[in-house]
Amino acid sequence: MSRKIRIAVLASGGGTNLQALIDAERSGNIPDGEIAIVICNRKSAYAAERAKEAGIRAEIVTRKAYGGQEGFEARMTELFEEENIELIVLAGFLNILSEDFVRRYDHRIINIHPSLIPAFCGEGFYGLVPHIAALERGVRVTGATVHFVNEIADGGEIIAQKAVEVRPGDTPEELQKRVMEQAEWVILPEAVSRICTERIQQKEREQDNGCI
Ligand code: GAR
Repeated sequence: MSRKIRIAVLASGGGTNLQALIDAERSGNIPDGEIAIVICNRKSAYAAERAKEAGIRAEIVTRKAYGGQEGFEARMTELFEEENIELIVLAGFLNILSEDFVRRYDHRIINIHPSLIPAFCGEGFYGLVPHIAALERGVRVTGATVHFVNEIADGGEIIAQKAVEVRPGDTPEELQKRVMEQAEWVILPEAVSRICTERIQQKEREQDNGCI
């Protein structure tokens, strides 16, 4: 049996956070985890191409193809079971998961959000929206947050945060780019690696206890 934590990455778009995870794994910075599958909920998601290029299984699972949210989540569950997934990473995944789904994977789903939660988060705050809101509010620092996913949008336990300065005259796109480069692509791989190592250590402790 594999001693690494098997990871599913869920993405909807460009997949730069997925790429940061792939690069981190390849360079040995996620020693206790491996990306086993990438699931995209949009046919056009470039993230699927990035996965394929890296030799990772990529699946397109749309709500439309599976008759709505329930069928869509059932298909994802099937894929997680097939691949023995223990950690689910939402990396730019623009779909609100049902309460049932989220509860089933309690503390096994994490998300990257492009602001310092609790600012500029919750339903509707995705992609450029948190950056537009940050600029409108005139904050001098923003950033990114990695958190566990629970039934409240962006409401789960915070795992990691990193602040990024807002510069005078920033456009939402410029701010988004800086937040990605300086925060998201840094804290997401770090958090994933830390969780995988903790889970492996926990398994080892459980095994040791079982032997006594
Ligand atoms: C990222 O900025 C991510 O933080 C954000 O979508 C972008 C996806 O980019 N996620 C959210 O807004 C979730 N609420 P990517 O596809 O290049 O990783």
